[in-house]
Amino acid sequence: MRRAVCPGSFDPITNGHLDIVARASRLYDVVHIAVMINKSKQGLFTVDERIALIEESVKDYGNVQVEAFHGLLVDYCKQRDIPAIVKGLRAVSDFDYELQMAQMNNGLSGVETLFIPTNPAYSFLSSSLVKEVAAWGGDISHLVPEVVLRELRQRLARP
Ligand code: PNS
Repeated sequence: MRRAVCPGSFDPITNGHLDIVARASRLYDVVHIAVMINKSKQGLFTVDERIALIEESVKDYGNVQVEAFHGLLVDYCKQRDIPAIVKGLRAVSDFDYELQMAQMNNGLSGVETLFIPTNPAYSFLSSSLVKEVAAWGGDISHLVPEVVLRELRQRLARP
């Protein structure tokens, strides 16, 4: 069984994330989506809410599993026998930090990181920008799954 993990904060999942997960799911037998818990970062959605939004968004993919993890990504991989991390690269600006993390993770445990170039339609997309645009009433319907759109509209509705 060839396994890979797509890790992230997913606060919330966007169509950019989904595009990478879908492409990874065609390359691997099983793709794990790991919602990495960062207690020092206050999110808009709780970890359980993020997982529910992701599960609804990937419900038609047969080989994608979602779970939360508190700790190092390499430990997550070790515990589940996952040899590969899959990440999307949006632009050169992503590369510096992603390269550092990939090299650190490889040095810690030998896990490999595979980069998939983001679909250009999503190269500007991030969870933070989606939240900001949604908070000011901008149209994000083409940028997030339907279930996320509904939740964001409810949560960020201004009086
Ligand atoms: O969606 P994000 O916030 O850009 O994802 C970053 C994430 C969660 C993938 C990264 O911070 C991570 O791997 N965190 C887990 C803790 C860890 O392993 N840190 C060392 C990275 S070299």
